[in-house]
Amino acid sequence: MEYPELLEEIFHAVQPYVGKGKVADYIPALAQIPADKFGMSLCLMDGREYVIGDADEPFSIQSVSKVFSLVLALNRLGSQVWERVGKEPSGNAFNSLVQLEYENGIPRNPFINAGALVVTDWLLGCSVDPTIELLAWLREATSNPGIHVDLEVADSEWEHRDRNAALTHFMKSCGNIHSSVDRVLRTYFEHCSIAMSCRDLARAGLLLAGHGKSPRCSDRFLTRSQAKEVNALMLTCGTYDAAGDFAFRVGLPGKSGVGGGILAIIPNLMSIAVWSPALDAKGNSMAGVEALERFTTLTGISVF
Ligand code: DON
Repeated sequence: MEYPELLEEIFHAVQPYVGKGKVADYIPALAQIPADKFGMSLCLMDGREYVIGDADEPFSIQSVSKVFSLVLALNRLGSQVWERVGKEPSGNAFNSLVQLEYENGIPRNPFINAGALVVTDWLLGCSVDPTIELLAWLREATSNPGIHVDLEVADSEWEHRDRNAALTHFMKSCGNIHSSVDRVLRTYFEHCSIAMSCRDLARAGLLLAGHGKSPRCSDRFLTRSQAKEVNALMLTCGTYDAAGDFAFRVGLPGKSGVGGGILAIIPNLMSIAVWSPALDAKGNSMAGVEALERFTTLTGISVF
């Protein structure tokens, strides 16, 4: 089956799941997003691109940004990053506090909130403005100069920051946060509040399909082994306490966000982005996971 027909088939098959689940409302600015959206984009290493549905509508990428923050930190700091954050699945919710105390303020991995807060702190230690650097890379990788931080979402996250603030204060008490807690939180919320479409996300993901060198960018951004590390962490930790189920059903490295987006990578071949705002109980897009499962089942392509 050709990709356009495949996307049509997936689009129709997932309709019963679109709007099922719950749009994230613990960040009030996200609660207003209509639940019935669905978009999907495939971006191939050879330059072909296929989209369906609301694939050109920007949405809040939320935790998908954790991939890009990690990529930037690896680019700037190399393996030093791993001195302050682990590489193991947490088996806990993305904003869980419980493990941190047992593990002396070292988060399990960079894709839970605590881990991304440490990565943000690393970035603040080596860049004057990590958000500007992140936006610059994303704009180049997507050829979309319009990619920006949605300030309404960032402010909404700031106003409801108690849980992330608790995580950051605790890690600071363990010596694992070096900048001020407020600066770390502000910058982390800016990254979560970046607005991108499925088309943008899939384009940006080509860096990881291309083993650290996006065919859309002039320079290599990660070494081949760093790209392998990021893909491995997406597979094992990218969907939090649902990572096992995601690997079982989809069989690809993937990273979700509570905005309803998921970025999935097929090394050597393509990057896939899906978006549908209604989430399952673990915070992953219900229709998005369905669509990815159908994609790998119908094509027979996965990393396994
Ligand atoms: O910090 C938060 O809670 C949100 N800005 C991001 C959480 C998120 O996307 C987790 N994803 N499933």
